[in-house]
Amino acid sequence: LDNGLAKTPPMGWNSWNKFACDGLNEKVVRESADTIASNGMKEAGYQYVNLDDCWQSSRDADGNIVVDSAHFPSGIKALADYVHSKGLKFGLYSDAGTLTCAKRPGSIGHEYQDALQYAKWGVDYLKEDWCSTLPGQSAESSYTLMRDALADAAKKTGHPILFSLCEWGSNKPWLWAGPVGNMWRSTGDIQDCWDCKKDWGGNGVVQIIDLLDPIYSYAGPGHWNDPDMLEVGNGKMSSEEDRSHFSLWALLAAPLLAGNDIANMSPDTKEILLNKEVIAVDQDTLGIQGHRVKKSGDLEVWSKQLADGGRAVILLNRGPSTASISADWGDIGYPSALKANVRDLWTKKDVGKFAANYTAQVPSHGVVMVRVNP
Ligand code: DGJ
Repeated sequence: LDNGLAKTPPMGWNSWNKFACDGLNEKVVRESADTIASNGMKEAGYQYVNLDDCWQSSRDADGNIVVDSAHFPSGIKALADYVHSKGLKFGLYSDAGTLTCAKRPGSIGHEYQDALQYAKWGVDYLKEDWCSTLPGQSAESSYTLMRDALADAAKKTGHPILFSLCEWGSNKPWLWAGPVGNMWRSTGDIQDCWDCKKDWGGNGVVQIIDLLDPIYSYAGPGHWNDPDMLEVGNGKMSSEEDRSHFSLWALLAAPLLAGNDIANMSPDTKEILLNKEVIAVDQDTLGIQGHRVKKSGDLEVWSKQLADGGRAVILLNRGPSTASISADWGDIGYPSALKANVRDLWTKKDVGKFAANYTAQVPSHGVVMVRVNP
């Protein structure tokens, strides 16, 4: 969407993956904003503080959205002001149907009214979900309507709003949402697991990357595929798996929305979320989504072209034991004789100059992520 926003994938925090409905309140949001502003996340690029489902309770007699005052006694304007006072941006959530997924009021029939309200509150970001839609309701028309409502509100207040579509890839939004949204969910909800198919049939990290790979060409500045918010630090995956998850999201040029309790995270989790060299891959200005360039059983090579002519490369081991994986220069679009500098983005060390290929030992469910520069 050409609204001047999301030239690189949005970064920030969202309440849902950790706090869901019952755990969401203004204290959690304030603490998360405090944390981003003070622990290095802001300097690393994290910017948006986003409420998900359950901040709203009903509509008043004029149809205005009413805030859940039990959990947000100070109201949304005060919270947005607080987040802004920390030099951060503020995001809200709604739904294109009658009710949100947690059965709070949706925006259907109130798009212009809601957009204007959000803009007056100082909202910088809106995620619009897809629960309780009407039979036959068109996703493209519904999201286009909200896009127009947000643009109109922005004109009146001088305040642009990033627009995030969330219909889970059900209507192939990558085919039509480029001019409609700044990002669109491309898959069902992420679960905090590496391989959920094996566990119980949900979307784990490996399920999601397999779904994102074939649609890489639809992403670009202002309009991104969204493989969902991060589960890093939520406790069910190992540190190795969390590191792989974060690395893959960066290579996919995914929005990086931390989904954990950032105010109380472990040093391990913090180190993952704050890896600036991995974040730089995500935020590369060329805005290309990387993709898989080689697969041999459980062993894969993924590559992303970067603005300086280099490549971010991930050697990914989906198998049960440590294995050796090679990226051939041919796989990543370089002539074999080319000598290129290889830098490991997790050990944060230059590993040397290589011709023809780079080979490394990769632990089970782990990655080696490097930057290759001729
Ligand atoms: C479904 C979305 O996909 C999730 O990210 C979250 O927003 C929930 N709905 C909230 O109910």
